[in-house]
Amino acid sequence: MSIEYDNNTRIFTLHTNNSTYQMQADSFGYLLHLYYGRRANGFANWELTYADRGFSASPYDAGNDRTYSLDVLPQEFPSQGTGDYRNTMLEVRDSEGVYGCDLRYDGYEIRDGKYSLNGLPAVYANHNEEAQTLIITLKNERLNLSVKLLYGVLPDKDIITRSVIIKNEGTKKITVMKLCSACLDFTHGSFDLITFHGHHMMERQFDRQEVHHGSSLIGSRRGMSSHQYNPFLILADHDTTEKSGRCWGMQFVYSGGFEAGAELDQFNQTRVFMGLSQEKFAYELEADEEIIGPEVIMTFSNEGFGKLSQNYHECIRENIRRGKFRDAERPIVLNTWEALYFDFNGKKIMEVAREAKELGIDMLVIDDGWFMNRNDDCRALGDWTVDESKLGCSLGELANMINELGLKAGLWVEPEMISEDSRLYREHPDWAMIIPNEKPTLGRNQLVLDLSRNDVREYIFNVISSILEQANIEYLKWDYNRSINEAFSHETDNGKTMYDYMLGLYEILERINSCYPNVLIEGCAGGGGRFDAGMLYYTPRIWCSDNTDAIDRLKIHYGTSFGYPASVLSAHVSVCPNHQTGRITPLKTRYIAAMSGAFGYELNPSFLSADEKQEVISQIEQYKQNSKIINEGLYYRLSAPDCETFCAWEYISRDGSKILLNVITLLNHGNMSQIYVTPKGLTPGAFYRDIESEKIYAADILMDSGFPLKMPTRDFEGYIFRFERIQ
Ligand code: DGJ
Repeated sequence: MSIEYDNNTRIFTLHTNNSTYQMQADSFGYLLHLYYGRRANGFANWELTYADRGFSASPYDAGNDRTYSLDVLPQEFPSQGTGDYRNTMLEVRDSEGVYGCDLRYDGYEIRDGKYSLNGLPAVYANHNEEAQTLIITLKNERLNLSVKLLYGVLPDKDIITRSVIIKNEGTKKITVMKLCSACLDFTHGSFDLITFHGHHMMERQFDRQEVHHGSSLIGSRRGMSSHQYNPFLILADHDTTEKSGRCWGMQFVYSGGFEAGAELDQFNQTRVFMGLSQEKFAYELEADEEIIGPEVIMTFSNEGFGKLSQNYHECIRENIRRGKFRDAERPIVLNTWEALYFDFNGKKIMEVAREAKELGIDMLVIDDGWFMNRNDDCRALGDWTVDESKLGCSLGELANMINELGLKAGLWVEPEMISEDSRLYREHPDWAMIIPNEKPTLGRNQLVLDLSRNDVREYIFNVISSILEQANIEYLKWDYNRSINEAFSHETDNGKTMYDYMLGLYEILERINSCYPNVLIEGCAGGGGRFDAGMLYYTPRIWCSDNTDAIDRLKIHYGTSFGYPASVLSAHVSVCPNHQTGRITPLKTRYIAAMSGAFGYELNPSFLSADEKQEVISQIEQYKQNSKIINEGLYYRLSAPDCETFCAWEYISRDGSKILLNVITLLNHGNMSQIYVTPKGLTPGAFYRDIESEKIYAADILMDSGFPLKMPTRDFEGYIFRFERIQ
């Protein structure tokens, strides 16, 4: 049993193979957090200490006992108004506008299998034995409010998930002003907070800071999980490394605004937390209504960041991604964006398609510009009428011609948007999220459709459905190119719009997935602006960044790898000089950077030389041979975050017998020091053969001292090593 309840102490214990999580409903009915760390037996309630802490209030029931205060005790779901002045998880107002919600333990339930969340993405179990669910109910009598804390335990994956359902069980309106889904309290210890910040074209940059007094906050107020901060954090001991030490991860299964962070309090206790953004959020619950706090996926590793990342990789691969494309071999795509931008017609598309076929590409994705009036990014979003005069035929005919070459056809769409200059806007100005009588903000000249409205969702579904019915499109690139600013809806209460927008998006994606299970959807938001586990539930791959420069991608992929597996991260080889940075890098290096993900090309093959074409043909053949280990193998980072001299990473097959190791060096210097690369995760005591050089290495020596890299003769040299275990 992975979930245990002790009736005498009212202690709940959740076990995974390598971790234990514990909490206790105490004598006052408060749910206190006791422990999250390495797998352990017994109870950790001796962790709790009580002392008279000035200016830290006590609940009335504690009487004269001034040593009991929620301002200092570790808790599972601290709520505002109970004397806890730290970052709390829940803030509510009653119908009179009064704040405060004192929550007491009311009961529990343990079930086999993993809970699911109505309308929201969540980790799922592949069979009932893979997971267990614990539901703890807390209640507030005055408000008639019930809080269900949901815990999902996947023991073999070392994963514990958390979510929360807030329900108004009374008759009067209650407004939820703030809702977090999970927090972790640590009574002692000194930690680092690791987050992944960035911007458009440079997403998910690794950042490690000591947790200091006060709060370190990350989040997004943009209505999307954002380029700026990924909804993912790691708390770690100061001495935790890739290979050793304790660390705890929190990853949000949600694609909208969020808030997360760490707080070091007055007594050097640490709280980490994750939940919905409070921006423009005031969620009214009438009688019997509820709101669900999106899921947080937690994992603990006592073996450093490497193991923590592998836990997330497994969970996303097997318990977040769904459907036919969960495990299917990734098609190698050629996307027309950097090849043609808006400047194309049917003839040019077919030229690219023919060349692509000769190179060994599987699928041609026609990016932006295929519909009426869309010759730049200023207009036409929302209309989605195929521009047959530009294509020279119908979309169906074009897809058929591509298919006849032996290629699959894919198409770019941006269904959540509307241009002011569009038929749709002229007919339905109220469908755009803009404040009446005020000039809207524009992002890439466009406005956001109000997905909290049913008629808008119906329209979007019908548009996508009609595209998929008229042409054999087997892949959609689902783009999203601005943040939400005006959360105004003509229909939905404005404190609900941001959250209901996400429910609306998930509803549309779910409907498309179930009606068109053979269509693979790639998520995209100006590259990686909505790169999160929520989107991955519907779109099993995401365009990682609009930056295709191989060297910048090294850092983007490095940061992304902490929370997400290679197989979900789309990466393409593009031309040089690179369109975003102007950098020139060898074709082999661009290939190596791109093959660390869902691999493809983003260039016009007509401009490749004969030698380059030959190289691309070999790259594609080689990628196909390696795609299994890349998509399913265990992933290891082998270099430091600053990538100063070189960047290296490695995939190991499940049985430990095959290794693919990639290295890219950075700037070359005169008479450089020797670079050594140190593999990880080999079978101790075994020997490995380098398949190219035939050299034999002892695994333990390799993992300890590494092997010398042939010195680079230019900047940005790329190396591919393949080792196999021989005994
Ligand atoms: C932004 C995407 O990230 C690009 O790859 C491309 O699809 C453009 N949008 C098209 O407008």
